[in-house]
Formats: sequence, structure tokens, C-alpha cells
Amino acid sequence: MKLIGLSREEVKRAIRNGEVTIAVYGLGKMGLPLAAVLANHGAKVIGVDINKKVVEMINNGENHINEEPGLSELVKKNVEGGRLKATTDGIWAAKQADVMIIIVPTLTDERGNLKLDPVYNVAEKISQGLEKGDIIITEATMPPGTTESLTPILEKSGLKLGEFGLAHAPERTMTGTAIRDITGQYPKIVGASDKKTLEAVIGIYGTINKKGVIPVSSIKAAEAVKVFEGVYRDVNIALANELALWCEEHGLDALEVFKAANTQPYCHLHMPGAGVGGHCIPIYPWFVINLAKKTNPRLIKTAREINDSMPHHIVELTIKGLNKVGRSLRGSNVLVLGLTFRGGVREFMRSPAISIIKELKEWGAKVFAYDPLCDENDAKRFGAEWREDFKDIDAIIIVTDHREFRGLDLDEIARQVRNRVIIDGRNVIDPKIAKEKGFIYLAVGRTNM
Ligand SMILES: NC(=O)c1ccc[n+]([C@@H]2O[C@H](COP(=O)([O-])OP(=O)(O)OC[C@H]3O[C@@H](n4cnc5c(N)ncnc54)[C@H](O)[C@@H]3O)[C@@H](O)[C@H]2O)c1
Repeated sequence: MKLIGLSREEVKRAIRNGEVTIAVYGLGKMGLPLAAVLANHGAKVIGVDINKKVVEMINNGENHINEEPGLSELVKKNVEGGRLKATTDGIWAAKQADVMIIIVPTLTDERGNLKLDPVYNVAEKISQGLEKGDIIITEATMPPGTTESLTPILEKSGLKLGEFGLAHAPERTMTGTAIRDITGQYPKIVGASDKKTLEAVIGIYGTINKKGVIPVSSIKAAEAVKVFEGVYRDVNIALANELALWCEEHGLDALEVFKAANTQPYCHLHMPGAGVGGHCIPIYPWFVINLAKKTNPRLIKTAREINDSMPHHIVELTIKGLNKVGRSLRGSNVLVLGLTFRGGVREFMRSPAISIIKELKEWGAKVFAYDPLCDENDAKRFGAEWREDFKDIDAIIIVTDHREFRGLDLDEIARQVRNRVIIDGRNVIDPKIAKEKGFIYLAVGRTNM
């Protein structure tokens, strides 16, 4: 059923009654949870992916995203119930669907320069199956203005914008919490090409999101919401890092000061640490920087610089720790705990561990690595040797906040290591306990514990 012209309540009813077909392009960490949730609320969902294996698994009722709790059950239930199927044929899917959602990767280099090929490729496919009254929604995070730049491609269908609707509804979640977030952790932000499309899109997301929908006045504003959320995080992490470095200089415990300062409701100092990785936070600031023509986003650029310098600071702390036990990096055995950019998720994009390992090696250290989500091939890929014990280690650097690292047995570690030095890049260890066990403990903003 075409949705343009219906009220939000009529849209909700139509979805629940199984009268709406939605094609979701991109069945990855974000797209598959969305497809499964939409199907679970009654929509007929066709998932589209270029990866044949992914399509095959989904059609067998199997989930390929291991990190997402509850997704396996949701995929199985909705495939068996006939509400969810997958295909590699994006044109066929567009012909069947009333709504097409684009949630494919938006790839960038480290300066945020976009490689939007997957998005354009999907838009081409959709244009070959587009019908009057269809709605195309982008969910992938993109620089403000990108969704509207798809219009000429979509108009190759022979239809004009207005005969079909266009909208942006940014994915405000992350790997591992997608189902929770899209069904009710945060409201959905939507911006659309016209009022009728906006009303219909409010109905679509209002069906699945208990926190409701916040409409904004344009597609570009909706794109900016998501990008600004990332910029806010980056700048505030940089502020925390800068203040933490100042605390080191002045012999203060940054965490103690931040915790006390944050009891005032206008203060939200973030956690300092080993650096910012991933596909999102280090990238979105570049969308703003690269699109600025008259403005000069100095603060945002400086924040990027500060956060990018933190892995180097971790190496400096390691040198400091080793000096305290009479060693230098050259010839020392250093164990890096954590290769992924964030705890609990097997993603390596711009992981601080990568630059830390590289620099440690440049200084002549022998570098070992362990990560509960990795194996020896991953360690090798990033230039370290895999290690599952602490034997003869001179310094341990915790780079990722994996749950497993919070429960490290310091007594056992103390027995195995050659020197007791811990650099805690994620504040996962209690410095008092580390000290009691005879460790030199250094963390960002905490060098005088
Ligand atoms: N992962 C996150 O935490 C997160 C959070 C918020 C927003 N996002 C955004 O969501 C979007 C998707 O990210 P993701 O993490 O799901 O990516 P992903 O890499 O996990 O999955 C992307 C999927 O798209 C498929 N694909 C690639 N090109 C395609 C094409 N032309 N047609 C159909 N399918 C295609 C891939 O095979 C893959 O299965 C990105 O724009 C990202 O910025 C991701």
C-alpha cells in the first residue's frame, strides 16, 4: 500500500495489518536489526544485500550479526512467519516495495572524504523499480545535503520528486544495542521532502519506536542532527583529554576532579582515554569541516587533533612507566590488551591500538597483543604477536574497555610478569588495588596515583 497521503495512524494500522512492503537495502549491523524489527511489527520486509551468503543465511532464518542480542530469535521468527525475506536483486525489491530504506555503508578516508558508491548504487537500483507514491528513506549517516543529491538519480525513473517522497531518518544507535535503541531508547529524528511524506514517515517509525518521532523541518536538518551528535562526542572527549593532560602536569587525579565537577548539572565532563576510533565519531567532524566554506570550524579541527594524539600519549606513559622500573621501550616486552576500537565489538576501524602498536615497535619494543574477540591472525595483521599469558612482560597497556579486562587477576599477573607496570588507557583498573599489588599504575590524567 502506498503511504503518501495517509495519516500517521493510518500508516501504523496498514503496517500492523501487513499491507505495507518495505525494502531495506544493506543487511549489516544496522540494516538487519531494522529489517527484523519492522517485520516483527507486521511489515512485509524484503532485505537487499550484495553479499549472497548474507542473503542465503537470512532466507534460512539465520542471523550473521553475532554482536546483536535478540537478533537471531527475531530473524528466525519473522522469516518463518513469512514477513522477512532477502534478495540480491535490488530492482525486483524496489518494484515490490512501497518504502525503500537505504542503510548501506558510507565509506570515508580518515579525513571524512566520502566514497558514496554503495548509496548511489542502491539509488540507481531503486530508480529502476520506483513507482508513484513510493517513499525512499536514507538511514545511513551522511554529510548534510547528501540525501537530496540522490534526487537526479531517482528521477531517472521518469517520476519527479513530489510524485515519490524522499526522507532522512538517521540511525541513532551502535553495534550491539541496535534493537534496543531503534525500538525505544531514543526518539527517531525524521526530515522529509514534503508534508505528506513526513506524515507517512512519522507513521512508519512511530510503529516501531516507543520513544516516538521528532520531525525536523528538512532532510538536511535531519542529516545534521546525527552528524552533530558525533561532533559533540568528539569535541567533549577532546576536552576531557585536554583537561586530563593538564591534571597530569599538576599532579591531580582527573577522574576525581571530573566526578566532583559533574555533580553540577551543567557540567558533563567525559572520560579521557587512549583515543577515539570507529566509523563514526572520528569521521563525522570531517563532514562539518569539509563542508564549511565561510565558517572555520577551529574547535572541531582542534578536537580531532587532540583525540588523534592520544595513542602517542599512551606510548609516552608507557615510556614513563618503564623508566620507573629502570627500563626503556627498546628491548622491553609490552602487552597490548585490546585491538578493537571499543569494548564488546569486533571492529577495528581507526582503533587506537593500531597506532600504539606501530609506535611501540618504532621505539624498539617487542609488542604482544590479546583481545577476547580476536585471534593470532588479527594480532599479526596489526604487527603484534598473539599472547594469552603475561610471562616476562614489562608493561601492560589496556587499550579497549572489554568487560573481561575489568576482572583482571592482578595477583596472577604479578606472578607472571617481569616488571609490574600497567598503563590503563580506559580506566578499567582500580589504581589503589594495582598499587597494593606493587604495580606502577599510569592512566590518562592519573599519573600521580
Ligand atoms: N555500525 C554502527 O554502529 C552504526 C551506527 C550508526 C549509523 N551507522 C551507519 O549505518 C550504515 C550502515 O552501517 P553498518 O554498520 O550496518 O554497516 P555493515 O558494514 O555492518 O553492513 C552493510 C551491509 O550493506 C551491504 N551492502 C554494501 N553495498 C551494498 C549495496 N550496494 N546494496 C546492498 N547492500 C549493500 C553489505 O554487504 C553489508 O551487509 C552506515 O552508513 C553507518 O554510517 C552505523
